[in-house]
Amino acid sequence: MASPIDESDHPEYTDWQEDSRSLFNMRAFIAIEFPQSVQQQLGNLAQKLRSSGLRGVRWVPPENIHLTLKFLGDIKTETVQQLTHHLPTIVRVHPSFTLNLHGLGVFPGLRHPRVLWVGVQAPAALFDLQRDIESLAQRLGVPPETRPFTPHVTLGRMQTDFGPQDQALLEAQLQVSTSTFHASLPVKQVALFRSDLFPTGARYTLLFHADLSERVEN
Ligand code: 2AM
Repeated sequence: MASPIDESDHPEYTDWQEDSRSLFNMRAFIAIEFPQSVQQQLGNLAQKLRSSGLRGVRWVPPENIHLTLKFLGDIKTETVQQLTHHLPTIVRVHPSFTLNLHGLGVFPGLRHPRVLWVGVQAPAALFDLQRDIESLAQRLGVPPETRPFTPHVTLGRMQTDFGPQDQALLEAQLQVSTSTFHASLPVKQVALFRSDLFPTGARYTLLFHADLSERVEN
C-alpha cells in the first residue's frame, strides 16, 4: 500500500521535517555504563547507609548508576547524529582499562554536603579518554565543562531536609564504608545516554555504545 505521504512528492513536508529535527532538543550525557553486578554492589552500599538511619538523601536507583564523562545538557538531534559519527572514531584509539571503585566522599565538602559519591581509582587512560571526549563535545558546540574532571560515581544527592543528625551519621558512615567497600569493572566501551526528567526521577535511555580499542592499559 502506498504511504499516505510520499516525502519526495512533498518538498514542503520534507523541509518541515528537517526544520523540526534541527530544533528538537534532548538532554544527553556520555558515560561509562556499569554492569548490573556492580550496580547491585553500589545499591547494597546505599542500602547499608540508608539502614544506618541516614535520611534526607535522594538515592540514585541502582540501574541509573554510572560514571559521567561529559554532561552534554540539551543538544539538538543534529548534534546526536554528529556524535554517532565522531564519537566511535575518537573512542576507538583509546585502550580498554579497569576501574576500581573505592572510598566514599561528598561534594563540595563535609560542612555542606550536596553529592554523596564513591571514589574511582582510574588509570591515565580514563583521563586521556575524557579529555578527547570533552574536546569533541566542544567542537560540536557543547559548552565546556568549567570544573576539572574528578572521576566519581554519584550514589545520592542531599535534599533540603538533610539535617545535623544526618550530617553526624554521614560522617560516621563515611569512615566505616570507605575502608570496607571495593568493586572493580573492566571498561571496554563508552555510551551515549538520553536523559528524560520526570517528577519521580530521571529515566536514562541508551542511544549507542562506542568501543574502546582491544589493547588493555592499567
Ligand atoms: P554526576 O552525578 O555523575 O556528577 C546525568 O544526568 C549525569 O550528568 C549525572 O549523573 C550528573 O553527573 C551529570 N549532570 C547532570 N546535570 C549536570 C549539570 N547541570 N552539570 C554537570 N553535570 C551534570
